[in-house]
Amino acid sequence: MKRFRTRALHVGSRPDPTTGAHVTPVYRTSTFAYGSFDRGARMFAGEEPGYVYTRIGNPTVRVFEEKLADLEGAEDAVAFSSGMAAIAAVALTFLKPGDELAFLGPLYGGTEGLFLETLVRFGLKVRDVGDRPESEWIGPETRMLYVETPTNPTLRIHDLERVGALGREHGVLTVADNTFATPYLTRPLEFGLDLVVHSATKYLSGHGDVIGGVVAGRAEAMEELRMHGLRHVGGAMSPADAFLFLRGVKTLALRMEAHCDGAEAVAAYLANHPAVARVHYPGLPQHPGHEIAARQMDRYGGMVALELHGGQEAARVFLDGLELFTQAVSLGDVESLATHPASTTHELLPPEVRERQGVTPGLVRLSVGIEDPRDLIEDLEQALERVERSLVS
Ligand SMILES: Cc1ncc(COP(=O)(O)O)c(C=O)c1O
Repeated sequence: MKRFRTRALHVGSRPDPTTGAHVTPVYRTSTFAYGSFDRGARMFAGEEPGYVYTRIGNPTVRVFEEKLADLEGAEDAVAFSSGMAAIAAVALTFLKPGDELAFLGPLYGGTEGLFLETLVRFGLKVRDVGDRPESEWIGPETRMLYVETPTNPTLRIHDLERVGALGREHGVLTVADNTFATPYLTRPLEFGLDLVVHSATKYLSGHGDVIGGVVAGRAEAMEELRMHGLRHVGGAMSPADAFLFLRGVKTLALRMEAHCDGAEAVAAYLANHPAVARVHYPGLPQHPGHEIAARQMDRYGGMVALELHGGQEAARVFLDGLELFTQAVSLGDVESLATHPASTTHELLPPEVRERQGVTPGLVRLSVGIEDPRDLIEDLEQALERVERSLVS
């Protein structure tokens, strides 16, 4: 098998059969001509493959699906219009009323919202087992165990090998959101999980100019997902967006190396700064999940969170003082981004829940971009100086 960087470029990509175009063209069409009455009938009877309608499948989108399936070590993949559409499609396809969905919280807020506020309206039972002992993760009605690793925003690490083993032992479908790590750093299916989901919006695109999602797993499961979660629900990826994802994935390996270089340097710098109470980065030996991360990640990713001594006021001065980091949600862009979860993405949560999740008033999440790490550290340094001056005055 060829190596990751090579596969990211070549798998699924082939010169366009009609024109020879080297780069996969955007097949911007909603429908496809059958060519004849008989062929149309054969295609609808499932006797002949071929494209029918872009909601169900499209040649540009298909190349992205083939590439992602390969990079995740899966048999197949299905692309969606967003990460949330992908996650919702997984739940709608593989769960039914009365089933329990157990998740290792805290998860990305949108995913928790889908599970705890939307899916429960359809008779699904949902249980956060993130702080429960492993023996309590799976109950008699549990049909799906859902994990995110590293988690958003506090970069907790969950043991994928344990999740995969428990899922197999109990016949429970296991799902990993691999958005933060990407298949370049972690391949959850290698640890025995059943499905991988992504917000492709983040590192897979890498350029912050498109929204999308993708799910990878066994061929049979992907067929079911394509029928129920895509064809019937309809959150299909646009071919124009697939073109951008294909372009992004070509450089995924190079970008992830640069993100990791930057995040490692930034985390080491912050860990020694007196204004910083705590740094959350799985690559630091003092991180509680470091050993597990070392087993399941090839490097430790581009996300770093820090807790400032001065609480929310220090966070405000720090964030307003940053010049290279843009204050914005999302992550995985080539440019560095910074957020204050307590006043933005996690603002709606009761303060005690926020605290339990580690979303303290002084917590800042950094998505470290691919700028020269020395410039990023200089930027952090001047912003931290402002924090120290403001605390003194
Ligand atoms: C870990 C994770 N999963 C899923 C999503 C949702 O993806 P999207 O915004 O593409 O719908 C996000 C978005 O921030 C995320 O961070």
